[in-house]
Formats: sequence, C-alpha cells, structure tokens
Amino acid sequence: MLRLRDVSMTFNEGTFDEKKALLNINLNLREGEFVTVIGSNGAGKSTLMNVVSGNLFPDVGDIYINKKQVQTLPEYKRSALIGRVFQDPMAGTAPSMTIEENLAMAYTRNKKRSLKLGVTKKRKELFQDYLKTLNLGLENRLKAKVGLLSGGERQALSLLMATFTDPDILLLDEHTAALDPSRAELITALTKEVIEEFGLTTLMVTHNMQQALDLGDRLIMMDKGQIILDIHGEEKKQLSIEDLLKEFQRIRGEQFEDDRAVLG
Ligand SMILES: Nc1ncnc2c1ncn2[C@@H]1O[C@H](COP(=O)(O)OP(=O)(O)OP(=O)(O)O)[C@@H](O)[C@H]1O
Ligand SMILES: [Mg+2]
Repeated sequence: MLRLRDVSMTFNEGTFDEKKALLNINLNLREGEFVTVIGSNGAGKSTLMNVVSGNLFPDVGDIYINKKQVQTLPEYKRSALIGRVFQDPMAGTAPSMTIEENLAMAYTRNKKRSLKLGVTKKRKELFQDYLKTLNLGLENRLKAKVGLLSGGERQALSLLMATFTDPDILLLDEHTAALDPSRAELITALTKEVIEEFGLTTLMVTHNMQQALDLGDRLIMMDKGQIILDIHGEEKKQLSIEDLLKEFQRIRGEQFEDDRAVLG
C-alpha cells in the first residue's frame, strides 16, 4: 500500500547548513499494516511523513501509494489518498469554521466536484453518527466553532476527519504528544479503534516507546535519516523498552538519548 524506494532528502543542499534528513529509505507497508515509528529528535520521522504526503519532495527515490507513483505529485493531488493528524491540535482543523463545516470539507476532499461542499440534511445526520462514536458529545455541537474546542476534542475531530474518507495511508505525527495524559489516553484508544475498524494502513510517529510497543503490528526505529531497526510479528510482541535501548546501543555504539521516549 505504501512503498518507498531509495528515498533521500537533503535540506539546504550545498550550503553550510546542509542536512541529510533522509538517507536511502526503503520501506514497504502491506495493506492494513500498522507501523509505529520511534527515534530521537531530528531522526527524520516528520520528514518521512512529509515526503509521503507531498509536503516535501525527495531529492531522489520513488514513492508509491496503492501502486500509484506519487513522489512528484503536489500535496493537493495526493490528499485524497492520505489522512493525516499532526502534533499541534491547531494544525488539522480550521478554527474559524464550525464542526460541521470542517467535517464537510474533509468529507468532500476526495469527492467529485458535483458533490462538493455544503452541509445537507443527510450529511448532517451522517456527521452526527460519526461524532457519536467519539463519545465526547460533539454531535450536539455541530454549529460550534472548532477554535472553541479543547485540544483533545480537536485531535479527536482531526482523527475522524483524517479517517472517515477511508484513505489509503494514515499518517499520525505525535498526535497525542500535546495532550494531557488522560486526553492522550483517550485519543490513543480512539486511534486504535479506528485503525482496526477500517483496517487502515498506518504510520504513527510517537516519542513514547511504550506506546510504540503497545500499538501496531510493526515498529521501526529511525536515527540520522535511516531506518536502523524494523521489527514485526511475534518479535515485536515480545519486545521491551530495555530491548530497544540495547538494540540502539548495539547498532549505534552509543546510548539512546531521549528521556521523554523512555519514560513516556
Ligand atoms: N525545513 C527544514 N529546513 C532545514 N532543516 C530541516 C527542516 N526540517 C527539518 N530539518 C532538519 O532535518 C532533520 C530531520 O528533521 P525531522 O523534523 O524529520 O526530525 P524528527 O525525527 O521528526 O524529530 P522530532 O522528534 O524532533 O520531531 C533535523 O536535523 C532537522 O533539523
Ligand atoms: Mg517530528
């Protein structure tokens, strides 16, 4: 469903600030595979998401989504294939628009022009049904401006908007990191539910190693623009934080430095 072949990406190439953010990335995700991505600050996790979404373009390499070659397509031409939730609760939704307007926008993202925009009665009922599944009472607040919602409510809404069009790929970039622990837990549970229900092929970046172990069926660790560890199946189920730290030290010959990742 997602395939990256020899993808590299350099910022500020040829200047003093040159930074190789991705180095020869090869990655294949089967349909329905749920992959958690860990790695310290600056490892290249967000850059990986950005080249998949079309927010950034790789210097070299091929990217396929559902067999379609996309690496030169602009973001808006890939948007129907991709659902995305960012770390910043402000990023995924339009604050000055109402809940129903935001949902209508997401809903029509990959529909034909004739079906575009507007909140019809039928659509309103549909949105209410979707919102009910969040158990946050948002179905009774369709006319509320999204800017008035709490961070957790906005992330829940973003998640819904990212998934209810059944994208080929779901990209989650530390989407629970800005929330307090109980809200983060709620969004994590919702995430798991939606991914399972729709069988979504997912790449989820997290700084929390425990979360990366608990969720998904495959785990990759990135460091300095490379995928240095790729674990799935039974092996992933048996894995502990200690194993991950040991593996990192074995591969890199140095300690993994990120207390937030280890302590959650
Ligand atoms: N727009 C940019 N211009 C220049 N350098 C950038 C840019 N975006 C990212 N980088 C650099 O590329 C490298 C990878 O960044 P990236 O944001 O992908 O890391 P990350 O793994 O998501 O880190 P974090 O855990 O902090 O979010 C870093 O060294 C970063 O400083
Ligand atoms: Mg990042």
